[in-house]
Amino acid sequence: MDKAEQDALKKAAGVEAAKLIENGMIAGLGTGSTVRFLVDELGRRVQEEGLEFTGVTTSRRTQEQAEGYGIKIVDIDAVDHIDVTIDGADEVDRNFNGIKGGGAALLWEKIVATNSNRIVWIVDESKVVETIGKFPLPVEVIPFGAGHVIKRFEERGYKPVLRKDAEGKEVRTDENNYVVDLHLDMIEHPEDLAEDLINTVGVVEHGLFLNMVDTVIVGNPNGPRVMTNSNK
Ligand code: 5RP
Repeated sequence: MDKAEQDALKKAAGVEAAKLIENGMIAGLGTGSTVRFLVDELGRRVQEEGLEFTGVTTSRRTQEQAEGYGIKIVDIDAVDHIDVTIDGADEVDRNFNGIKGGGAALLWEKIVATNSNRIVWIVDESKVVETIGKFPLPVEVIPFGAGHVIKRFEERGYKPVLRKDAEGKEVRTDENNYVVDLHLDMIEHPEDLAEDLINTVGVVEHGLFLNMVDTVIVGNPNGPRVMTNSNK
């Protein structure tokens, strides 16, 4: 699938998901290129249809884009609940276990998701996989002592790589932390791995989102298809 085809599927999933937002809702807005299409469509609905809702964003990037359309964005602590959060994902399997954080927003994404009544992911067909792990697993790490955390990951065979930008500078998250990507290839026991990562001192959060999502809208050449998680 080339980039133009993939973008068309991402857009189709984003436009479909935008239909879930109704007047008066509090909506979590995720991060990434698929979510950009979602926010474009919500912006269109706000401007052309008079849709009124309140958003909580998972990154400053999404906040800027949404506010550019006149969408009302508030701090997560200003709301007592979030009706639905719509976000992208890097991989998802049939058990609704996923990897997120390709856009370095995993910490805010997990906080927003944890406080949402319903979680919807929008992906293109290439992200639905048999076993997660081909996409490097992002882990958000405190900069102080990050070298030791990376050494510990190496000892455990996790193949860690500190994420850097095009200029070779460490990528910083919205909380000013580093991202370490684990090149695991295949994650056969995601619960055990999640437990191990979160118990490593210096790790703030990891990109394993295990059985959290309720609905996945998959952009497909024949039209968006919906995967519903009945085990949550
Ligand atoms: C950001 C994320 C994104 O949702 C994920 O990386 C998917 O991004 P895209 O829609 O650009 O493929 O988790 O931290």
